[in-house]
Amino acid sequence: MKLIGKLFITAVFAAGCLVNASLVRAEQPLKPSDNWLLEAKDDTERLKRIQQMFGGFSMSMQLVGERYDRTYDAITDGNYDLAVYHWKKIKETIELGYLRRPAREANAVAMFLTGPWVSASEALASKDKVQAKKQFLLARSACMACHIAEKVPFMNDQPKFRRTAKFSKK
Ligand code: HEC
Repeated sequence: MKLIGKLFITAVFAAGCLVNASLVRAEQPLKPSDNWLLEAKDDTERLKRIQQMFGGFSMSMQLVGERYDRTYDAITDGNYDLAVYHWKKIKETIELGYLRRPAREANAVAMFLTGPWVSASEALASKDKVQAKKQFLLARSACMACHIAEKVPFMNDQPKFRRTAKFSKK
């Protein structure tokens, strides 16, 4: 092979290595550090890390799941002020959830926030035992319907939803 040909191949190979190295660098996992924000290379990286840390819709749902349980228990205890408190937080948490994951907004609003959430909210505020229980159970069905609509039907098959399927008579 002529010298010029060899040089050309060497140059292409070297360029390839450089591109590769920069790609590898870009994809490097975050380096753990006590100063994981302060040590980020710039504000873009810093904001990226904060954004990741807040999580997506599932982070909201975990909180919603916890407050849902607490609402059920508060109704059982006849502590409607506590139930109202958690119920409001559930709405705020879902809204913050679809701020981060807009694809979830349509069903969250149409299937839950504008209907069942409002009815349950009014029933809890009225402190009417029968209505509070009835509307909570309707809201439960709406949670589960959204899981089906959003293609996570397996969410419905867990103790949380079985435990809260009815209220004990007392
Ligand atoms: C937008 C429709 C929607 C509504 C309304 C909704 N969910 Fe969800 N839920 C989801 C989706 C989607 C996931 C899976 C999240 C993911 O994969 O990012 C989920 C996940 C969950 C999880 C598992 C979270 C985890 O990662 O540990 C729980 C618990 C849960 N939902 C409870 C509820 C309860 C209780 C309600 C009603 C108060 C409710 N959800 C209402 C869509 C919904």
